[in-house]
Amino acid sequence: MTAKTLEAIKYTRGNLSILNQLVLPHETIFETVLSVQNGHAAIKSMKTRGAPAIAIVAALSLAVEVNTRAENKEFETVDQVVKFLFESLEYLKTSRPTAVNLFDAAGKLWALIQATAKDAKDPMTVVNAYIDAAEQMLVDDVKDNKNIGKFGAEFILDNAKDKNRISVLTHCNTGSLATAGWGTALGIIRDLHANGKLEHAYCTETRPYNQGSRLTAYELVYENIPATLICDNMASALLKENPSVQAIVVGADRVAANGDTANKIGTYQLAITAKYHNIMFIVAAPSTSIDLNTKTGKDIVIEQRPSEELVTVTGVRVQDDEPTCIRTAAADIGVWNPSFDVTPAELISAIVTEQGVVLKKDGETEFNMSSFLN
Ligand code: MRU
Repeated sequence: MTAKTLEAIKYTRGNLSILNQLVLPHETIFETVLSVQNGHAAIKSMKTRGAPAIAIVAALSLAVEVNTRAENKEFETVDQVVKFLFESLEYLKTSRPTAVNLFDAAGKLWALIQATAKDAKDPMTVVNAYIDAAEQMLVDDVKDNKNIGKFGAEFILDNAKDKNRISVLTHCNTGSLATAGWGTALGIIRDLHANGKLEHAYCTETRPYNQGSRLTAYELVYENIPATLICDNMASALLKENPSVQAIVVGADRVAANGDTANKIGTYQLAITAKYHNIMFIVAAPSTSIDLNTKTGKDIVIEQRPSEELVTVTGVRVQDDEPTCIRTAAADIGVWNPSFDVTPAELISAIVTEQGVVLKKDGETEFNMSSFLN
């Protein structure tokens, strides 16, 4: 099997399609995104998910729609296009609340629109500047992920007790499907594997939405990385049984200024068990996931997802591969379904970004993310 990574976002100017992650790994269906409305729906329904991918698909859905409207000569003035872009970005921001990458991208794109509009003589100047910037996000994300992979793999190698037996546990999906390509935490696993340093990867199932068993497992198998799936409640037993697991690596949806990190529900309990078993707990994320306006994890808005995701299991029937969704929980039981939790900085060994590895100062329990970002 080739080492080509999967692709979840296909884009050429004027054309965007996304891999529908609701039906993976059973079916590979690309869906065309023609508009901001389509982009918003794809993100909200989780056909597209993962913090960097959410931001990129949002930005590109607007790039596609503004391109179509410009071709149809719908903008007569600079003000008209600026108004359309502003309202669209505001709407896209309402799709999912926790991953800060979307808000970061919207803020940066809006600043660029305003700066361009100031001197623009015709609407196409603003249209082209917006599309160029949105397209650049795709390119930058892959580059950033490769650097995260490299820095993270080096950190693990430098700090591993046994450098000849490095296995890693990961949670949720942070790979090519969650980004423009390569991935963050999964990018670190890819880097270790590519350099012959990985003994084995373990991935959690990641209930209730199963990003681990459906998506990460799919990526690991696709790339022939030696890997094993575990249920979320097996992590502590794995660490006790298997000393080769020397690090847990996860992604992030929002890193607060002190390093507290929101990520997929279940991340916090993994950090606790990493501490108990004295292994590394590493957060891998692009600097666009760092939110200096959020002082600590207490200020992070945690998305609540529909109860159906928790009381049901979706998949295909073993006998005939027919799609199926079955209820597993007792009828009428109350449900709490937060999509993310916050891991306190105290439990995190290192935060790996494309710019390098952020560590706590000796004796401190929190990170200073602002000094890192200048
Ligand atoms: O609900 P999801 O699937 O969007 O959650 C994804 C995660 O929590 C990832 O760990 C995070 O977004 C980082 S993806 C590189």
